[in-house]
Amino acid sequence: MLKPLIYKTNKLLVLDQRLLPHREEWLCCSDATCVAKVIRDMAVRGAPAIGVAAAYGYLLGARRRQESGEPVSVDSLSGVYDELAAARPTAVNLVWALDRMGAALAGLSHLDDETRVARLTEEAQSIEREDLEANLRMSQHGAALVDRGRWVLTHCNTGALATAGQGTALGVIRDAWAAGRLEGVYVGETRPWLQGARLTAWELTQDEIPYRLFCDGAAASVLASGRVGWVIVGADRIAANGDTANKIGTYGLAVLARHHGVRFMVVAPRSSIDRDCPDGRSIAIEQRPADEVRRFAGHAIAPGDAPVENPAFDVTPNGLIDALVTEVGVLHRPDRYGIAQLFE
Ligand code: MRU
Repeated sequence: MLKPLIYKTNKLLVLDQRLLPHREEWLCCSDATCVAKVIRDMAVRGAPAIGVAAAYGYLLGARRRQESGEPVSVDSLSGVYDELAAARPTAVNLVWALDRMGAALAGLSHLDDETRVARLTEEAQSIEREDLEANLRMSQHGAALVDRGRWVLTHCNTGALATAGQGTALGVIRDAWAAGRLEGVYVGETRPWLQGARLTAWELTQDEIPYRLFCDGAAASVLASGRVGWVIVGADRIAANGDTANKIGTYGLAVLARHHGVRFMVVAPRSSIDRDCPDGRSIAIEQRPADEVRRFAGHAIAPGDAPVENPAFDVTPNGLIDALVTEVGVLHRPDRYGIAQLFE
């Protein structure tokens, strides 16, 4: 399985996803500032992968302090925490992973700095391993819902490049294909970063899973065709009532799916659920630079000063979600009560 991140010899290697599928280049980070930058600039993306990267970024910050003889403590690392947390505001996995690293460190005050850094290394590796395991469990739960002989539709990239394992929504698609339940996958191109066209199409090609790539604007006619049984997507932040923020365009797909009688599945680990966020209105939506819309592959495609709105995510209300698949099972028609039960 492809890996977007490799931690070795005190460095984080990051596969530069902006260049895929045509060039495979790795960036090398040895401090937290570099990790914050690769997250902000989209070299690594996808909520769970961002969380894993942030955990290693925190570790690199701790290691830097240890090497320069400064104390390794939650207080001395508060700047590192803030810098990483601010890199991208919507994916809750980022702060979730940082909070886990901070909580682990808080419990180590009786140990020396070298041992603390060793324990933080184990914590970051656990976050990575647990995400991989959660992917496998979600994939099985979700694949069991997919009807034989139909197509599914997915958006953005939720595969190995976006996680520490085989993916969330794409993990479900992989298992459904392996079980012989799928005809194929409709993949939305996902403007403006084209995660569907560049990354999901690449992963499906490698697994020899049949797919058809479509322009985002063709979603309504694809869903009207009657071939699609499920729309299957990931999540960046799920509120306590099940409202779900995911890549821009997801909400439109959910509305279209309901209109055409197609079911809508969100696949995400519990680390993507923000129980402090009561509903979708309180989810901060990242606004990205205007030139991502005005320009394409380095060329201007709109007037240079065209006013732009470029939200990176939108919120799908819980009422449009038929199934929320997590590592602990499937929640049909997610609501506040069901989400709370996932943590019991
Ligand atoms: O802007 P991106 O590429 O980080 O957005 C990614 C998504 O919206 C994914 O659907 C989400 O993070 C889930 S990835 C398993």
